[in-house]
Amino acid sequence: MDEYKIKSIEEGLTKIEFPEFDKISSDAPVFYNPNMELNRDLSILAIQVFQKQEQREINICDLFGGSGIRGVRYKNEIDGVRNVCINDISEIANHYERHNIELNNLDDIEVFQHDASMFLRMKRGEFDVIDIDPFGTPSPFLDSAGYCSRRNSLLCVTATDTSALCGTYKEPCIRKYNAKPYKSEYCHETGIRILSGFVALTLSKYAKCIEVKMSHSTEHYMRLYLYVKKGSKRTDESLKNIGYISHCKNCLHRQTSMGLAGPIEYVCPVCGEKLIHAGPLWLGDIQNEEFIQKMIDETENKKINREKQALKLLNSCLKEAKAPATFYDVHKICKSLKASAPKLDLIFEELRKEGFIAIKTHYNPLGIKTDATIKDIENIILKLCETENI
Ligand SMILES: C[S@@+](CC[C@H](N)C(=O)[O-])C[C@H]1O[C@@H](n2cnc3c(N)ncnc32)[C@H](O)[C@@H]1O
Repeated sequence: MDEYKIKSIEEGLTKIEFPEFDKISSDAPVFYNPNMELNRDLSILAIQVFQKQEQREINICDLFGGSGIRGVRYKNEIDGVRNVCINDISEIANHYERHNIELNNLDDIEVFQHDASMFLRMKRGEFDVIDIDPFGTPSPFLDSAGYCSRRNSLLCVTATDTSALCGTYKEPCIRKYNAKPYKSEYCHETGIRILSGFVALTLSKYAKCIEVKMSHSTEHYMRLYLYVKKGSKRTDESLKNIGYISHCKNCLHRQTSMGLAGPIEYVCPVCGEKLIHAGPLWLGDIQNEEFIQKMIDETENKKINREKQALKLLNSCLKEAKAPATFYDVHKICKSLKASAPKLDLIFEELRKEGFIAIKTHYNPLGIKTDATIKDIENIILKLCETENI
């Protein structure tokens, strides 16, 4: 290990060292991505909220340890953590995980070198929190997570294969998530819903169901925080949240249909064109107001370098908790109307004046989450163009 030049970094209250590399890539001797600091900060807030809600000491599994930054930060920065297990298939990663545990003078962290699925199965039922942060898709590991997770536990899932989930190519999404994507203006939300739906369907095999407490799509990744509950009746009920989003490419109308095999319309009720379907996916809540508010409150107690960014995202997700599924992109609507775009705030104001919900979204700064129809929004835009003389 002496062959490497060592880099030292600090995140939160934790210091980490690992071999220096030129480019962030899975080829680095030990993987560390500084752009994921926000992801780790939010994880600390979410796990702390979970720990306080459960009012007990918790055991955490950092399933894909890399440099160990997650597991080490979790033990160092979250109250009420009894034990952390850091696992990674790579021997060099294990070496630096041990080194970083020592560097931060921590006890009650163990390091393991196993394939992630094997490790979960060896430790079935031992963890209150399982953090899945792999390269690319979490899909191959979700069966083991479903089989091994405890009732009333927290499952944290990262996916970096956003192009599959967003539908840049549909085959990888069908292969990995058994769902058809659609690359619309709200494809990142569809991706979050496909990922959540896939986790829900995978866990249901083990009579376990999910509640999505917080989710976001940021830069190159998507992240879910899920409460796992147990019981066949409860799971049957929860699967009623699986359904489809149908989209009209011609007029931008969209609608949802609940049920894995429920009736689904093929013709757009607004313009008569063919509807395109995405799913199966999760149509239940993807943000939980109470949980996110507690995450916001928890920022007071933690040292988070990216606090401003974390709070901006959390406040946006908090508001989105009350919003309907999907959103409209103002520029896309204006393009189809061949009209110039009025000021975004004016459109929000007008929608609210007319009694509609109008909420911004973290997915897109030009997005509007609303219960207004495409025709309602178009009329508002055209009216504003006239009164604003644009
Ligand atoms: C994205 S990195 C983890 C990053 C880390 N969680 C962080 O926040 O910095 C993925 C890690 O998974 C490890 N890995 C790859 N395949 C694995 C498998 N099948 N089982 C366990 N670990 C695996 C790699 O060695 C790599 O360190």
